[in-house]
Amino acid sequence: MHRIVVSRRIYPELIDVLRKDFDVVANQDDLSWSPAELAQALADADGALITAGERIDDALLARCPKLKVVANIAVGYNNIDVAACTKHGVLATNTPDVLNEATADHAWALLLAAARRVGESERWLRAGHWKRWTFELFNGAEVCGTTLGILGMGRIGRAIARRAVGFSMRVVYHNRNRLPAGQEGGAQYVALDELLAQADHLVLVVPYSPAVHHIIGGPQLARMKRSAVLVNIARGGVVDDAALVTALRDGRIAAAGLDVYENEPALHPGLLELENVVLTPHIASSTRATRIAMATLAADNARAALAGQVPPSLLNPEVLPDRRR
Ligand code: DGY
Repeated sequence: MHRIVVSRRIYPELIDVLRKDFDVVANQDDLSWSPAELAQALADADGALITAGERIDDALLARCPKLKVVANIAVGYNNIDVAACTKHGVLATNTPDVLNEATADHAWALLLAAARRVGESERWLRAGHWKRWTFELFNGAEVCGTTLGILGMGRIGRAIARRAVGFSMRVVYHNRNRLPAGQEGGAQYVALDELLAQADHLVLVVPYSPAVHHIIGGPQLARMKRSAVLVNIARGGVVDDAALVTALRDGRIAAAGLDVYENEPALHPGLLELENVVLTPHIASSTRATRIAMATLAADNARAALAGQVPPSLLNPEVLPDRRR
């Protein structure tokens, strides 16, 4: 029987399903494994189900001679050095598609909450400040009928754009590739500078790579409208958090809704002091149904790889012999 390591706690019933096919080593106590402990746990494993918090690199793979597959329970895979996996003959997989809708919903939750000052007004109310209603109480930003900017128009970006149709919004986007004309409510491709200038609200959903590190920093925030809301559901590092704190503090943009951070779970301390930012702890895909779908797809990827089949969401097909690509 192949040995599979599950590096973080997942629903126990999913572990029971895995046990039918594999010898499972499951970190169900959810202990925080150091890189050395992860390498030790994987040393005699055939496969691994990991999350975005675990780093798979050349040094680790060199210590895991039996490893054949690393199945990320996440669509983003900047935690995996795919080239190193290829070098070691390890298949790497992720979980695209199954989280598109839940993640797009969360982007909208952050956008609406930040624009309409939901967190800020609730904190104020709970603190006992509501003595009387006033006309200008927590005036927020308009969302319906405005222009939505999307940086990164992959599957999740398109799901976000589809929801904008219901808000009568014009959608502009910037992406490596352009969509065929007329898709996603007529979303229009623009250059990055134009995206920053035109968007009334901007959602970041671009996959992280060194090429997009701090793609939104001080100069880019300065190009945005003062009334704009910025939403980041992509990855920490896409935004320069220190520059964002300055922009939010100075009223350079109106507000932000953030699910991901540089150095998470540590936050830039300035973020915690600001009222005009809504903060969630990297939960954009976190509905029970979506989490089950993500873990199930990761398990399917591992199962296929260890059965000598092509995993459904393989990231490095070059590892396969030519006839199976
Ligand atoms: C993803 O799937 O990439 C989410 O960010 C969860 O890590």
